[in-house]
Amino acid sequence: MAEILRIYGGHRLEGTVVVNGGKNAALAIIPAALLSSEPCTIENLPQVRDTEALADILRELGAKVSLKGSTMTIDPRGVNCSTVPEELACRLRASYYFVGALLACFGRADVSYPGGCAIGNRPIDQHIKGFEALGAKVSTDRGVISARAEGGLSGAEIYLDMPSVGATINIMLAATRAQGNTTIVNAGKEPHIVDLANFINAMGGQVKGAGTDTIRIRGGRPMHGCTYAVIPDQIESGTLMIAAAATHGDVLIRGALPTHMEALTAKLLEMGARVDEGVGEDSIRVRSDGNHRHVNIKTLPYPGFPTDLQQPMSALLSTARGTSIINETIFEMRHKHLEEIRRMGGISQVNERIAIIEGVPKLTGCSVTASDLRAGAALVVAGLMAEGVTDIHNVQFIDRGYEHLEKKLRSLGAKIERITDEG
Ligand code: EPZ
Repeated sequence: MAEILRIYGGHRLEGTVVVNGGKNAALAIIPAALLSSEPCTIENLPQVRDTEALADILRELGAKVSLKGSTMTIDPRGVNCSTVPEELACRLRASYYFVGALLACFGRADVSYPGGCAIGNRPIDQHIKGFEALGAKVSTDRGVISARAEGGLSGAEIYLDMPSVGATINIMLAATRAQGNTTIVNAGKEPHIVDLANFINAMGGQVKGAGTDTIRIRGGRPMHGCTYAVIPDQIESGTLMIAAAATHGDVLIRGALPTHMEALTAKLLEMGARVDEGVGEDSIRVRSDGNHRHVNIKTLPYPGFPTDLQQPMSALLSTARGTSIINETIFEMRHKHLEEIRRMGGISQVNERIAIIEGVPKLTGCSVTASDLRAGAALVVAGLMAEGVTDIHNVQFIDRGYEHLEKKLRSLGAKIERITDEG
């Protein structure tokens, strides 16, 4: 039976909440465990559907996987397959990281096209460009990404046409077991790319420059097991910060790394919210009287404003004074949720990547439907702000990337419950 998140809006969020481990960091690190010749233990994983989906793929490949709470132990020594079937690959975007990891380990990979949020075309040409530069032959017939490097991979210099997060990660995975050195120029700089580099180095690899636009990978080094804790989730931290401001609340988000949140913090301050960074601890406190000015947002690769936070931010901007403009430069179809917020009384116009949001005094709760993960987060923020009851359908999207979101919000004073959709 489908489930609904039912929110009784208008309640201030107050108190302390702990952010969980980063979903997108976890999704890059879990496939990387295949590069090791010994078991790895990964801690602080978010307990979300995407993490479970990757565990299922690892088991399909022959790895021994135990997932208990936020800790996963992966023993790759039994891996005897380099094929990821459609029914597993389609469950998430990150399944395509197994192309880089399997190519590195076995010189071959057959991975069905990934799933993931319908937020644009999401081509993989930069991934393929990287694999071919390393010496692989790649085809994408019949919806399967097939890569072959019978003679093994050789290090190369690879220039990315755009700082693609996924391509940077996939090339790092493949290059780790290539013979010789690889340089990725115009690489993504996201925090979870740095986290993956740290994990590869913890296994004995040598990745330098992660977090800058040039990453150097020394390939062919012996890789051993390790125990590694994933960084806090930048996007969950931001979503909670936005929800605190949206409900005129006062929330301390423990575990959030202020250095990862600077673009959002700047915008919340510009709107008139108060944001204080933890003294002597990783935390961020957000307070607001709800008197918000409009701001303009342009999404950019890190350290610019994260595309994954523009959707929740658009809900907050729906009741800010004045007109806000959101320019979504990363994905070409990431404004669908505004149709749902218009049902709640929001006023907005969308023209391809540009959304123009005219602030209204209030939103009114009603039945809405999430179209993707961060659209779902936007509707949660809107429901928390709205007068009356909001029912959010397609909760499964939210469960892919947020761990027990309603429990966290309830602990802060939200009136939110998960109910079965009677149809
Ligand atoms: C990752 O997606 C994240 N997903 C996304 O988070 C995030 O929005 C995105 O990075 C940007 O930060 C995971 O980490 C699993 P990209 P990814 O490759 O790797 C174009 C969420 O909500 N492009 O940086 O797909 C592409 O079309 C999800 O957690 C090419 O043209 O992002 C897009 O316009 C949603 N060719 C832009 O680059 C390529 O080969 C950014 O894509 C690759 C990408």
